[in-house]
Amino acid sequence: MKVDVLLGLQWGDEGKGKIVDVLTPKYDIIGRFQGGPNAGHTLEFNGIKHVLRTIPSGIFHDKAINIIGNGVVIDPVVLMSEIHALAKMGVDVKSKLLLSTKAHLILPSHRLLDAASEAAKGKEKIGSTLKGIGPTYMDKTGRNGIRVGDISLPNFKDKYSALVEKHKQILSHLNFEYDLNAMEPEWFNAIDELKTFQQIESEHYINDAYKNNKAILAEGAQGSLLDIDFGSYPFVTSSNTICAGACTGLGIAPNRIGKVFGIFKAYCTRVGSGPFPTELHDEIGDKIRNNGREFGSVTGRPRRTGWLDLPALKYAVMINGVTELMMMKADILSGFETIQVCTHYNYQGKKIDYLPYDCSPELLSPVYTSLKGWNQDLTGLSSPDQMPEALNAYIDFIEKEVGVSISIVSVGPDRTQTLMRKKELV
Ligand code: GDP
Ligand code: IMO
Ligand code: MG
Repeated sequence: MKVDVLLGLQWGDEGKGKIVDVLTPKYDIIGRFQGGPNAGHTLEFNGIKHVLRTIPSGIFHDKAINIIGNGVVIDPVVLMSEIHALAKMGVDVKSKLLLSTKAHLILPSHRLLDAASEAAKGKEKIGSTLKGIGPTYMDKTGRNGIRVGDISLPNFKDKYSALVEKHKQILSHLNFEYDLNAMEPEWFNAIDELKTFQQIESEHYINDAYKNNKAILAEGAQGSLLDIDFGSYPFVTSSNTICAGACTGLGIAPNRIGKVFGIFKAYCTRVGSGPFPTELHDEIGDKIRNNGREFGSVTGRPRRTGWLDLPALKYAVMINGVTELMMMKADILSGFETIQVCTHYNYQGKKIDYLPYDCSPELLSPVYTSLKGWNQDLTGLSSPDQMPEALNAYIDFIEKEVGVSISIVSVGPDRTQTLMRKKELV
């Protein structure tokens, strides 16, 4: 059975956590392939709301094995606090969480470097979550990083000290005050606890599972427009968030990828800096933010909001080879008389339908098509047959424009608020 991939097609927070949780009963293994605790994946069921940061979103189900792949960067302090929170809820994490020995570790000094680098950028800042993501991936590609497998080696402390020395050198040039000593004890305590969890060569585990016909789902973090290569650089994260990231981040060969589930919101949001062609700075944007509770699940920052951007969505579908779309938060668009969808851009006087290299708002403005809105509250719907006509028209319009069908429409944060337009998803 081929490995399916689920990922975000916009700027993150599309609702990946919810859908992974909904789909997990169909899978034996869920593997996170990139990113780290910059992610916040929210799940809701039985009145419980839970945000996962590093742990795959299949963890609440009894049977599935959850793997943190080699492409992920792990902050042991955050991971342990996630594990403790789950243990309090009665989730037996130890038996079903496996860590790749090749995943890189976020050191306290990586977090300091992230903060110092953002402070030095001033107005040009990325809007990073400041979890140390960029500096950790820099050390990975710079071949200086420390990996999960290193924590059991006799020279671990020496490796740690050598890397921290390098970081101190950089920090000394950035005019940044810090107290590393205050951060280290909890990090080393978390490392000691991390040692008690199962560490594996996850690429072997996954490929063996593949040969044994196990059903595997790769879970992405962030979104395609935050991809280090194809996102709105430099306002991006530091990993490949796209489908190819599942290959490098879990050790899955490209010809073993099956379905690619692309998740998008029925509108757009972005948290942090960078271009956002359809951003709304008016009361409509506020209404979407308030109705959709668009505040970051990690940082609590208000998310920027705007109408759906089809050229950007088509780009993400192309780069990822999306085979099925899933539209989230349709319920939030209830109550708008008309809904705007961006089909093209005006770019330096020309009408184009692709994302140009330079997306500065001075050069690029969205061209919209108006569609009829709907008033009906969608949150109680239990079948796609009950969807209002205007929502069906909205879906038809998107499917025709993008050329891929929408198999799930999500109408609320809870597991049960999920309308399956296609019976057999997996
Ligand atoms: P992720 O990072 O892609 O997993 O998404 P987040 O968890 O950061 O953000 C999605 C937010 O929307 C969370 O608060 C979810 O509980 C919520 N959510 C997901 N799907 C829906 C939906 O269909 N309707 C509503 N109203 N909320 C949703
Ligand atoms: P999930 O998985 C939304 C954004 C940050 C910032 C940029 C770089 O929950 O969808 P970083 O901390 O990686 O240096 O930040 O990327 N960002 C996210 N935005 N959802 C996320 O993850 C994000 N992870 C990072 O806001 O603009
Ligand atoms: Mg999120």
